[in-house]
Order: sequence, then C-alpha cells, then structure tokens
Amino acid sequence: MEDQATRLRKLVEDKTGQVQESLDQSLAGKAEAEDRKTRVIAITSGKGGVGKTNLTVNLAIALGMEGQRVLVIDADLGMANVDVVLGSLSKHHLLNLLDDGVELSDVLIHGPYGVTYISGGSGIEKAQDFSMADRQRLMQKLSGCGQIADIVLVDTGAGLGKIVMDFILAADEVLLVTTPEPTALTDAYAVMKAYSMYATNKNIKLVVNRVYDEGESRDVVSKLQQTSQKFLKMPIECAGYIYEDRNVIGAVRKQKPFLAMKPNSIASKCVQAMAKSLIYGGDMVVKQGWRGFLRQIFNFSRK
Ligand SMILES: Nc1ncnc2c1ncn2[C@@H]1O[C@H](COP(=O)(O)OP(=O)(O)OP(=O)(O)O)[C@@H](O)[C@H]1O
Ligand SMILES: [Mg+2]
Repeated sequence: MEDQATRLRKLVEDKTGQVQESLDQSLAGKAEAEDRKTRVIAITSGKGGVGKTNLTVNLAIALGMEGQRVLVIDADLGMANVDVVLGSLSKHHLLNLLDDGVELSDVLIHGPYGVTYISGGSGIEKAQDFSMADRQRLMQKLSGCGQIADIVLVDTGAGLGKIVMDFILAADEVLLVTTPEPTALTDAYAVMKAYSMYATNKNIKLVVNRVYDEGESRDVVSKLQQTSQKFLKMPIECAGYIYEDRNVIGAVRKQKPFLAMKPNSIASKCVQAMAKSLIYGGDMVVKQGWRGFLRQIFNFSRK
C-alpha cells in the first residue's frame, strides 16, 4: 500500500502537469466541454490569527490528494499569507493581469506540494473602482480559472471589512474558522450575524481550530449553533475541527505545510477528514460557481 508521503510526492508531480495541461487546453479554446461549475469556498474568521491560512493551504493539499484540482486565491492582507506558509515566492499578482501581455498563466503560481495559487487577491478591492473595460478585462482573463479548477479556496483575511464581506457573500460556501477562545467566538458570531443579514444563499460552516479534544469542539459548535438559531434564525453546520498540534507551529517555522511535513500528525489527519467530508459528505449544489463569484466581486450585478 502507498504511504502518505508517496501519495503526496505523486500528487506534486501529477498536479503541476495536470493544471498546466488544463490551462493549455483552456487557452487553446477547448475549454467549453469541461466548463463545469467550480465550487468556490471562502475561508474566513472574525478574529485574526486563528489558522485560516494554514487551513487553506493544507486543505488545498488534502483536496488535491483526493483528486480535486484546487486553486487558492490569497486575498489575505495579513502577514502570514499563502506565500509564507508554502515557503514560496510569487512574481506576479492578480492585478498584473491588467498589464499588456500578462495572461492567466503568468499570474498562476505553481507552488510546492502541488498547490496552485494566485497572489494579491485582495487587490480586487481596488478593481471595483476601475473602469468597466478594465474590470471586464480582469474578469475575462480570470474566468479561465473555472476550467482549471474543481474547487477554488479563497483565504479572505479576518474581520468584517468590505473586501472580506464581498468575498464571503460572493462565494457559494463559507468556512468560518474559530478557536475555542471566548474572543474568537464573539468575533465569529459577528461574522455570522453580518452573513445572515446579507447572504442570499446561506451556506456557512464552522471549523474549530486548536482544540484539545473532540468534546471541546462539540461544545463550541453547539454554543454557536444555538446562538445562531435563536438570534439569527440561521442554521450553521460544522465542517470539522483541528487539534492543537505543535507540528503546526514547527511547520510554520520551517515554512512548510504541516500536511507535507508531518502527514501522520493529528492536525494533518483532521484536515484530511475535513477534505473528505467536503467532497463526499452530502450533496453540494454549486449555485453561482466561479463565474457568479467573479460577477459579484467585480460588481457587474450590483452596479
Ligand atoms: N492547529 C494548530 N495547532 C497549533 N498551532 C496552530 C494551529 N493552527 C494555527 N496555529 C498557530 O497559529 C498561527 C496563525 O495561523 P494562521 O497564519 O494560519 O492564521 P490566520 O487566521 O491566517 O492569521 P491572519 O488573520 O493573521 O491571516 C500559526 O502560525 C500557528 O503558530
Ligand atoms: Mg492568514
């Protein structure tokens, strides 16, 4: 039987080729046939520093191990961004797509461990003030992502700022990360409240990070579920939990994803379980997909 490390190595080799191949096909105009709807999942939190970026990167790897083609959009203005967690360096940013001669393939970064990502997604905030022509150009170039990815993960950064809200309202699904800390819970509730007020199709799930046992996660989820039901009339499920694990801290120090560095660690197992449940656990109907996401982000439906 293949062990985790072998599967991961194979994934890295396969994925880079696979994404490039899909991109070539897309650019060659053969994309229509596989223009399936792409799941867009925004990963957010109320409080900063609760583990969004680590979840995003490691979940991308875990979903990749399940055969999904994953694209990560780094829309986090914070310090610990996708580049840092991956130990990679991006040459281009999303807004470089406005430069002449820069195509989607130039801003797509094939990072280590098979993670493909676009840096500088937070620049989309500026894009809303751009001319219609520029917004259309950006949207047209970015629409190719729909053909190369089955799932897009957007690391949104924390809080209730405009750009974060735009991303979570435009995505079909939201993963709201919290820790069991009271301040993180209060801030998570603030996001739930704002989301319940503005989201048309509500699909928000909790991820409880840094728990010491399953019971702690259950308590957090049940507290937030009860409050949500009582005050917001909004159901909220749990996508999973991640144990407090010193391997995460060690991996961050080494600028390597923990799933790559310690595939058998408890945190890695939790993220793998979450990936499986996201893919196989229940029917997920993609309502807006990548195109709908872009349309909303670039304000075409709202202006
Ligand atoms: N499961 C875990 N076990 C132990 N430490 C963890 C765990 N998850 C996260 N951490 C610690 O928390 C730190 C912050 O994680 P991360 O950068 O992913 O958070 P973030 O929510 O993206 O932060 P920001 O809001 O600044 O973008 C990590 O560097 C790591 O030290
Ligand atoms: Mg972050």
